[in-house]
Formats: sequence, structure tokens, C-alpha cells
Amino acid sequence: MKIIVINGAEQKGCTYNMKEMFLDAVGRGHDVTEFTLPEDCPVFCTGCKACFYRDISVCPHREYTVPIWDAISAADLIVFTSPVYVFHATAQMKALLDHYGSKWMAHSPERQMFSKQAVIITNAAGMGMKNVARDIGDSLRYWGVARVFVIKQALFESRWELVAEKRKAAIKRSCARVSSRVTAAGAVKPSIGVKARFYIMRMAQRMIHKSQLKAGQPETKDHLYWKENGWLSGGKPWR
Ligand SMILES: Cc1cc2nc3c(=O)[nH]c(=O)nc-3n(C[C@H](O)[C@H](O)[C@H](O)COP(=O)(O)O)c2cc1C
Repeated sequence: MKIIVINGAEQKGCTYNMKEMFLDAVGRGHDVTEFTLPEDCPVFCTGCKACFYRDISVCPHREYTVPIWDAISAADLIVFTSPVYVFHATAQMKALLDHYGSKWMAHSPERQMFSKQAVIITNAAGMGMKNVARDIGDSLRYWGVARVFVIKQALFESRWELVAEKRKAAIKRSCARVSSRVTAAGAVKPSIGVKARFYIMRMAQRMIHKSQLKAGQPETKDHLYWKENGWLSGGKPWR
């Protein structure tokens, strides 16, 4: 299995250790590529919208954003990690995700996303993990990622060496549970939520297209993309 890990912070602290526990649980024989933020994408989206009008190959930050996207695209399993910073995912994680807005289903999602799985790993001293799961999970689900799992733990400590053994044991159990689901044999099918998002976005594409034709406007890049993929004539990006 090809695994991409995107580390949402550079500390080799609690989040790093949880990620290592998960990779142990999945087994070490896999092809793992890791990126760490902000080192591997030290830039904010400028909002130029070039990706929406063309694609991410023309992003002004393509030297950072394209290799990471290519690795996401090639992976079977996408792992995102982020500690809670002021009740949310780290700013560098959000900065990376902003660069992939054009990959959302409202625009030009990639077919292969609909057979991928993802795991979000997060922790906090106390609270805020649900928000992190949502900050990252929204992008994953709107990219079309078939199944998204979350491993989270409140640590009541900020140094991994001092985290209580019972909490480390709870993390180990979560890692084992998620890894057994991720590695279970069989084709990966999108969740009901992902399918529902696709059908709603298809309806929106059809409506927007109708009103654009009426107004004498040319077809948008997104509409042409959906049409070329056969998704406006009943086709689906999953089997
Ligand atoms: C800037 C910053 C903001 C934080 N905000 C929160 C927070 O809102 N809620 C919380 O419970 N812990 C918060 N924490 C604590 C971290 O989430 C916690 O210590 C986590 O285990 C750090 O992970 P790390 O060791 O991988 O860096 C914050 C830590 C930092 C550095």
C-alpha cells in the first residue's frame, strides 16, 4: 500500500508519536512518503484563482503544491496529522489545504479520490479535536475521499514522555482498530456522505450550466471537466 503522511507541525512531540504508533499498527512494509508543514509548503494561497480557471499546475506555489498533490493522488492511504492549536488545525495545515480548493467536488474532483482512504490523527492537551477532524475532514470528503477515519486523544499533558500510560494504551487501541479497518481486504467504496455530496454537486453543475447557456455564457472549465468524465450523463467516479 502507498501511504502519504502530511504532518501538520514540525515538532517531534505527541502528534509525531501518535503517527508513528499508527504506522506501526499498519505495518512497516508499506511505501511511505512524508511531508512536514510548514517546511514543505511554507506559503499561503494568494487567492489568484489560477487553479480554478486552469489547474494547480499553474499555481504560483506549484513547486510546493504540485509534488504534494501528486503524492496524495498516487497514494492508497492519506494520513493527515495535526495537534490542536487554539481549537483548530494548525495554520500551516489550513494554508496547504487552501491550495487545493479547485479539487473540491464543487469544481474538478479527481476520480481516483473516490477509492482512497484517509486517517486524521490529532490530539490536544484538552479540547478542540473535533474541530481539527472537521478542518481537515471537510477537504478530504469534498475531494471525494471514500472513507475518512479519525484517531484522537486528549492527553492532559504537553510532553509525550509524561503522557499517562493508560492514554498511550488508548491511542494504541485506536490505531489498531483504524488500521484493521483500513487494511481490510476488498474494494474501497465511498461513504454515503461522499456519494450524497457528489449527487448534490452534480445537480449544481447541471443547474449552473443551464443558467449559463440561457445567459449566452461559455461553458466553464469545471462543467467541461464534469462532462468529459461522463458525470453529467449518469456516470460516477466510483465502481
Ligand atoms: C499554539 C498552541 C495552541 C494550542 N491550543 C490548544 C487548544 O486550543 N486546546 C488544547 O487542548 N490544547 C492546545 N494546545 C496544546 C497542544 O494541542 C498539545 O500540547 C499537543 O499535544 C501538542 O502536540 P505536539 O506535541 O505534537 O506539538 C496548544 C498548543 C499550542 C502550541
